[in-house]
Amino acid sequence: MKDKAVGKLIKQEAKRQQETLMMIPSENYASQDVMDALGSVFTNKYSEGYPQKRYYQGQKYSDMLEELAIERAKKLFKVPFVNVQPYSGSPANTAIYFALLKPGDKIMGLALPSGGHLTHGVPKITFSGKFFQTVQYDVAKDGRIDYDAVERMATKEKPQIIVAGTTHYSRLLDFKRFAQITEKVNALLMVDVSHVIGLIVAGVYPNPVPYAHVIMTTTHKTLRGPRGAIILVTDKGLKKDPEMGEKINKAVFPGLQGGPHNHVTAAMAVCFQEASKQSFIKYGQQIVKNAKVLADELKKMGYELLSGGTDSHVIVIDLRSIGLLGNTAAEALEAAGLVLNRNAVPFDTNPPYFPSGIRFGTPGMTSRGLKEKQMKQVAKWIDKVLRGLKEEKERLKIDSLGERKRDNRNKIIAETSVIKTVAREVKALCKKFPIRKYY
Ligand SMILES: Cc1ncc(COP(=O)(O)O)c(C=O)c1O
Repeated sequence: MKDKAVGKLIKQEAKRQQETLMMIPSENYASQDVMDALGSVFTNKYSEGYPQKRYYQGQKYSDMLEELAIERAKKLFKVPFVNVQPYSGSPANTAIYFALLKPGDKIMGLALPSGGHLTHGVPKITFSGKFFQTVQYDVAKDGRIDYDAVERMATKEKPQIIVAGTTHYSRLLDFKRFAQITEKVNALLMVDVSHVIGLIVAGVYPNPVPYAHVIMTTTHKTLRGPRGAIILVTDKGLKKDPEMGEKINKAVFPGLQGGPHNHVTAAMAVCFQEASKQSFIKYGQQIVKNAKVLADELKKMGYELLSGGTDSHVIVIDLRSIGLLGNTAAEALEAAGLVLNRNAVPFDTNPPYFPSGIRFGTPGMTSRGLKEKQMKQVAKWIDKVLRGLKEEKERLKIDSLGERKRDNRNKIIAETSVIKTVAREVKALCKKFPIRKYY
């Protein structure tokens, strides 16, 4: 690369990825074929519109490419309609609301600390919460969705759309029950499977296609493709509104976006093909096996996990019982080579930037080839670091308010000597399991 500054940063990032464990559950390693498509000449092309109806010339191959991506997606997810143009998950969810709701209509979604996404109607701070009325359901005390409570809220609030979809809810969603509730109140069921689409493809997570009207998924998480998103309309959706696909298309372009990112469309087509292979099914199964082992080990060590464990790819530790903030834990674990994120827990009394939990998952580690044996080791490392932090925090007499100050966090982390040892061990494991370029 001629640009030395950017070239250097790419090399440094590659080294960081190679030498640490990617435990953020929404991240993954795209294959070399996906990367090649992303870096291809399709990045040069403008294609406003849809195949066979574009506003610019020179579309012969862009049309064929978008049609190929759509056909592969339809086949993989078994739906009659797909739009592959959304730039990412948030604009895709916005496009669904724009297509199917009127301003002021009501969205009902899972609250953020319980595992919903910002775009699922979080009030005040988001587009979905400003342009629409919103109501939010929470998980119950046991950390699971109480479907009777969801039904009571839906009956009272009469939303136009109910969103089922999560970012850190580790249990399986009951799409059939969601469908019963939406039918009772004559709402639309929108399912956001961004996190779990790879597990659905692998058959280890319930498939929402028979129950939802419209489905959104990002393509860069468990699906292991490029950063982007797609919107699927099901047979049920088309039965409810035969124009639904057309409305989605119009909302994406010209409603909210300009030209599609053709290089991303190319990479999507590649990832749909990769996800249709037998090896991908094995991959999805292993993600869940790994997550269950990791969760069980941590539970045995006494950690409090949201909902008591996991049935999917994601785990959240509630750190309140060990008296640490999520940001301190996440910063220290990063220093140890275990890269995950701070996360709110349901009914969190701490603010989002200083929350009470950490979230992590197994999609990235599983892509790298790690299995149950290594998960046991990862649990030991997490425990070593968290216990070390707790002891240092107590020794330094820093309370939770004090812990919000960076200097104090730095002090706690610097004094936790075990971090350096774990970092060395993590690096050695990463060397044994290099990021593969081809799947
Ligand atoms: C469930 C869910 N929906 C939507 C999104 C938004 O996707 P993006 O970050 O691509 O806008 C995310 C991203 O974290 C997500 O987890």
